[in-house]
Amino acid sequence: MSDISFLETHANHVNTELEKLLNSKKTSTPKPLWDAMHYSLLAGGKRIRPSLILECYLACGGNNPEIAMPAAMSIECMHTYSLIHDDLPCMDDDDLRRGMATCHKQFNEATAILAADALQALSFELLAASENPADTRIELLKRLAIASGAQGMVGGQMMDIEAEAGGVHGVLEVERIHIHKTGALLRYCCEAGALLAGANAATLSACSRYGKAVGLLFQIADDILDATATSEMLGKSAGKDEAQNKATYVSLVGLEKASELAEEMRDIALDACKPLGDSSERLTALAHYIFGRKT
Ligand code: IPE
Ligand code: IPE
Ligand code: MG
Ligand code: MG
Ligand code: MG
Repeated sequence: MSDISFLETHANHVNTELEKLLNSKKTSTPKPLWDAMHYSLLAGGKRIRPSLILECYLACGGNNPEIAMPAAMSIECMHTYSLIHDDLPCMDDDDLRRGMATCHKQFNEATAILAADALQALSFELLAASENPADTRIELLKRLAIASGAQGMVGGQMMDIEAEAGGVHGVLEVERIHIHKTGALLRYCCEAGALLAGANAATLSACSRYGKAVGLLFQIADDILDATATSEMLGKSAGKDEAQNKATYVSLVGLEKASELAEEMRDIALDACKPLGDSSERLTALAHYIFGRKT
């Protein structure tokens, strides 16, 4: 397995910056709201999405990671908002997240919904207020809005809920759900890193292809882990997909075939890295990591 110790370095850096950011907002934010935002945002996620932004930025020739840091923090705010909503009783109804009580359990539903709303807005604020050229900022804002909204994550969450009741009719339908609910944000991360580095069209397209593949791979791995790992390992409740009749690759084609599809996605991701040459070493390591992840 490749060396992915850089993941921890990125996570520590992002955590430090997020802590500073929230502290700067403390006096101007109602206390229960701030507490809930801080609780969920600094609960210790893997920080895969910020790492994808930072590593795509570096792989595309970026040489000052501070340039990519606001986008890295921004995506973690967006992702955390999506998790808080995903866990609500009206959605996946989960009690455990990142090894702790879910936001609505720790606080209450109204506070959790508002904390998530505020994190979503903060995500856009971070991008808008970053020191990048205005045209780069507008491009990232537009791409993030599309990736997180009706045509992306939120649309995918709707499809996920619809499929619970109605069932799915084939692999393509599960793929469509996964590409939207999870893949869109991961793909955005890879494109954002490339755009921040000023990548040319060919390099941007390589990162986009990579992002699309790791995005789907990430959710296939999530489905496999839900069926095979323990809640303790995951820091979230395992076995929920089957209990809630979720549309997953595991439910549709079984564990073995789901692993084969994950392998296929990993290989597409590895192939997409090729045009980037030697500088994509860490992106290939990340694809292997996402394929083999245990949490
Ligand atoms: C969980 O995402 C939700 C999915 C989209 C599968 P992560 O597995 O990245 O969760 P954290 O951020 O590490 O907690
Ligand atoms: C979540 O998918 C996708 C999101 C947009 C948050 P899941 O519902 O499978 O994520 P977990 O397993 O609760 O983390
Ligand atoms: Mg869900
Ligand atoms: Mg869930
Ligand atoms: Mg899951």
